[in-house]
Amino acid sequence: MKALILSGGEGTRLRPLTHTNAKQLVPIANKPILFYGIEAIRDAGIKDVGIVVGDTAKEIKDAVGDGSRWGIKVTYIKQEAPLGLAHAVMISEDYIKDESFVMYLGDNLIKGGIKDFVDEFRQNTPNSQILLAKVRNPERFGVAEVDGGRVVRLVEKPKRPKTDLALVGLYMFDKNIFKAVKEIRPSWRNELEITDAIQYLIDNGYRVESQIINGWWKDTGRLEDMLEANRILLDTLKTEINGIVDSESSVEFKVVIEEGAEIIKSVIRGPAIIGRNVKIINSFIGPFTSIDHDVRVENSEIEHSIILEGSSILGIGKRIGDSLIGKNVEVYRLDKKPEFYRLMLGDYSRVGVF
Ligand code: TTP
Repeated sequence: MKALILSGGEGTRLRPLTHTNAKQLVPIANKPILFYGIEAIRDAGIKDVGIVVGDTAKEIKDAVGDGSRWGIKVTYIKQEAPLGLAHAVMISEDYIKDESFVMYLGDNLIKGGIKDFVDEFRQNTPNSQILLAKVRNPERFGVAEVDGGRVVRLVEKPKRPKTDLALVGLYMFDKNIFKAVKEIRPSWRNELEITDAIQYLIDNGYRVESQIINGWWKDTGRLEDMLEANRILLDTLKTEINGIVDSESSVEFKVVIEEGAEIIKSVIRGPAIIGRNVKIINSFIGPFTSIDHDVRVENSEIEHSIILEGSSILGIGKRIGDSLIGKNVEVYRLDKKPEFYRLMLGDYSRVGVF
């Protein structure tokens, strides 16, 4: 059995971050989202992993390498344009050959791993198996109608959903999916939809089974979802202090402080993670905050946020919250009149002031 991780896509909902970065590499609790997926696949006993990449191919290759770090073998498959999940499957046929495979969306997080799901497919050998979750807003997802465990109909983002069962970003297929992806036509958004390909399997008498997820999962395609994923994963941390905390600072609740980090005259209130070589000076870092390596925070307060590597936050009078700050960003206080906001923001940036 092989695995296919989809790490192409456009990531329009996460601009401006995705102008320069792969959304699958945004760190959640200081670990790229994609790495959680790779670990779940490895823990399910799969060693042959294809990663579909798009414009951010180089960045993903640099981060993941050949997979030996996880004891797996990674093959990269270039998708020329993000023409849909079923298109990503279609271009992967030469790699998959006629094996069965698990397909994992690289921006999804599934707590508790995927081993049970993969084992069920191995045991029951349907032609396809999908993972479903009960959601409050099914119109945002692919929605399934099931009869027992068997899937009878799938609709992509229906205006009037018939059930509250949404497709989670995890699928199993045997070789018949390659027939399906070649038969279907692009949808109104000009993508080859995986839901249409699975519907083709159903309509042509193939067996498509489903499993309902018990635990937590998240499609991290939007800022709010990233922050929620960050909350959930930070809450699983155990305190570990490998950096320096001076005698005037305090570290409360679950906090990880990585090597080379220095906490000076500050309060860190977990759950929080402070990355390598970060300096926190005269500041407050509140719950649910992940600060990646080489960040500097001085005379400022931050909570419920993700700060990426190399950024600095200096002398900000109001607490920063619910924020995602990219790499090498500078947020600083102006100390000369006139009083105004001086901004240099990339396309599609969002700034909220009070
Ligand atoms: P989506 O989040 O559905 O699509 P997107 O990445 O284009 O984002 P947005 O809607 O904000 O523009 O994609 C789910 C995952 O699949 C994600 O990891 C990207 C990947 N993907 C591909 O690899 N190829 C594709 O053609 C598409 C559409 C997505």
